[in-house]
Amino acid sequence: MSEIDQLRGEVLAAVNAATDVPALEEARVEALGKKGRVTGLMKNLGTMSPDERKVFGQLLNALKTEIETAISAQRAKLDTAALDAKLASETMDVTLPIRPETKGSLHPISQTIDEMAAIFGAMGFTIAEGPDVEDDFHNFTALNFPPGHPAREMHDTFFLPPDQEGNRYLLRTHTSPVQIRTMLNEKPPIRVIIPGRTYRCDYDMTHTPMFHQIEGLVIDTETNMAHLKGCLQEFVRMFFGVDDLTVRFRPSFFPFTEPSAEMDIGCSRAGGELKIGNYGDWLEILGCGMVHPNVLKACNLDPEVYQGFAFGMGVERVAMLKYGIPDLRTFFESDLRWLKHYGFAALDVPSLTSGLSGGGLNR
Ligand code: PHE
Repeated sequence: MSEIDQLRGEVLAAVNAATDVPALEEARVEALGKKGRVTGLMKNLGTMSPDERKVFGQLLNALKTEIETAISAQRAKLDTAALDAKLASETMDVTLPIRPETKGSLHPISQTIDEMAAIFGAMGFTIAEGPDVEDDFHNFTALNFPPGHPAREMHDTFFLPPDQEGNRYLLRTHTSPVQIRTMLNEKPPIRVIIPGRTYRCDYDMTHTPMFHQIEGLVIDTETNMAHLKGCLQEFVRMFFGVDDLTVRFRPSFFPFTEPSAEMDIGCSRAGGELKIGNYGDWLEILGCGMVHPNVLKACNLDPEVYQGFAFGMGVERVAMLKYGIPDLRTFFESDLRWLKHYGFAALDVPSLTSGLSGGGLNR
């Protein structure tokens, strides 16, 4: 009896004195492990008389339970203390100033898209988006590219391997498939701009396999070419900050617009320096046109009731023109020095009232 009492005292003292998990485990092994003291006594039961064994066995079982309870309680205490210590050491003072070296900046692509969204937003356009991985229907067929049409080849498409059902997906070659998605999902009047990534298998001084476009789509019952002209002229005047900038439309071809046009803006190339303004020279800036009746039909819109215009523009191209960035490929090299030089302050959000291009980081 007294032997058990003494054992109980010693083991419980060791358990309660354990200040970390390994010490607690050591106390447990010493009492209840294979060669532990309590286990040792239990092994002795076999040598006792049945009466002795009954009394002694009950006492030992009670002791074992008591020790196990004590270990669990101590373990919970240690866990709580460890968590408290961790929380205390990880506290963060959110009032501390930002470290100067962590200052980030907005990529000129993001900035340019934000500026365009501010201008078109003021004209009542909202933003629509679609997937980068498209199917043939949205990227080509619904846009009036018949199967086998040579214009499909002009796009240098990246095709994905066909899926199990044999469906062939591709990386969208332009943002125009989102015109289709928008017309299928929304009722006119529609006024959206669609910024996003586009992909073509092409790489040289003026082409990268991934680039950005911004698309525009307007669908209503009385939309005409004059609306297209007024809208785009107003846009380039605001975007380039030249109030009287003149624009010129040249006939062009896109399967999904009729008539189709390319829009030029006034510029000067005198002395090898490109300047935007009415200097007598011209610079191509975007493709546009009136939405083709076949496209409206593919989207279940009656061409006798609805008309619309669409336009598409390369974001890198206009960013280069506006910010004097000479080489397209530098946009995607992630060179920190370039990003620091051409980046924009993240909190300087473009707006028509506070200024489109803000102060920039280095402007
Ligand atoms: N999707 C055309 C391209 O990538 C641009 C465009 C858009 C032209 C909308 C007309 C209307 O070249």
